[in-house]
Amino acid sequence: MANPSLLILPGDGIGPEVMTEVRKIIGWFDSRRGIAFDVSEGLVGGAAYDAHGTPLTDETMERAQAADAVLLGAVGGPKYDVLDFSVKPERGLLRLRKEMDLFANLRPAQCFDALADFSSLKPEVVAGLDIMIVRELTGGVYFGEPRGIFTEGNERVGINTQRYSESEIARVARAAFELARKRGNKLCSMEKANVMESGVLWREVVQKIGDEEYPDVALSHMYADNGAMQLVRWPKQFDVIVTDNLFGDILSDCAAMLTGSLGMLPSASLGAPMANGRPKALYEPVHGSAPDIAGQGKANPIACVLSFAMALRYSFDLGDEATRLESAVQSVLADGVRTPDLIPTGQPGTPVTTAQMGDAIVAALEASL
Ligand code: IPM
Ligand code: MG
Repeated sequence: MANPSLLILPGDGIGPEVMTEVRKIIGWFDSRRGIAFDVSEGLVGGAAYDAHGTPLTDETMERAQAADAVLLGAVGGPKYDVLDFSVKPERGLLRLRKEMDLFANLRPAQCFDALADFSSLKPEVVAGLDIMIVRELTGGVYFGEPRGIFTEGNERVGINTQRYSESEIARVARAAFELARKRGNKLCSMEKANVMESGVLWREVVQKIGDEEYPDVALSHMYADNGAMQLVRWPKQFDVIVTDNLFGDILSDCAAMLTGSLGMLPSASLGAPMANGRPKALYEPVHGSAPDIAGQGKANPIACVLSFAMALRYSFDLGDEATRLESAVQSVLADGVRTPDLIPTGQPGTPVTTAQMGDAIVAALEASL
């Protein structure tokens, strides 16, 4: 049987350097665990724009549709700020999400023991934190019509539309309930039902699915602004959170920072199952392209490495190997190996480079055998 296929899209900024480390790890699983992928690479974001004048070619889009999983680095950079909206690097990523119909975006926020002191919150508030934000990814104000900048009288108005159908809400709600069942059986849904009709519908649909299909899962609802406050007040009250595209964008950055570093967090974007039973899937770090440190060996590859671990778990049914990789990362951190982002300003410590962090993770994997 052919090996499962993995399409790698390193993208911009630090994307290529963190992906180089992931490829070391993919190589390790191949040579030491007999887990082989048919790996190919493509361009996305500014890199694709530079080469082809578009942030994602149709050819790359087709390869992404056909792949068993896509692993993406990061997109964007100041150089592209002047571009028209339609060809900005971010459009490449949004097209992948939309055309692959990746409606459920899983963003774990997990606090590594070795880094509890590193959070801007008190260690006791974040130690042991393990929450999962399920962000709706293909609807809402990111894609709703009408949208645009229009002229009304003698001025312009910018318009975006928040729009959710019952079926869009229902499918992401089910994905979140299923995850809650595999974790602490607790789900909190966040919207703004106090001011938005889309929020009223969101709450109704989630409640109905909970009542009818998941009575065993403890469901609660919260306004998203309160949710943001509760996340920094006492994050451990949450297990799984489900929310819409824009609130999820914001709340997941907030949750990510609780853990100490945005450079640590992976994500999975999942769609409906393909013919082979695997979900359509794209894995990417939560962090961006960090153009200010690109090409200097300063980037933390852990978020991208952990995104590959999520691929092992959610696309390839290799949960044990995913755990092996996550444990390797834990042990490297416990040993004090730190990229610059993991050393608080003004504190002593000798940082390692991106490549040294990758090598340390490979060594920890080797030690796990
Ligand atoms: C994210 C990012 C993206 C988003 C950008 C790069 C389009 O912030 O994945 O959270 O807004 O969804
Ligand atoms: Mg974001």
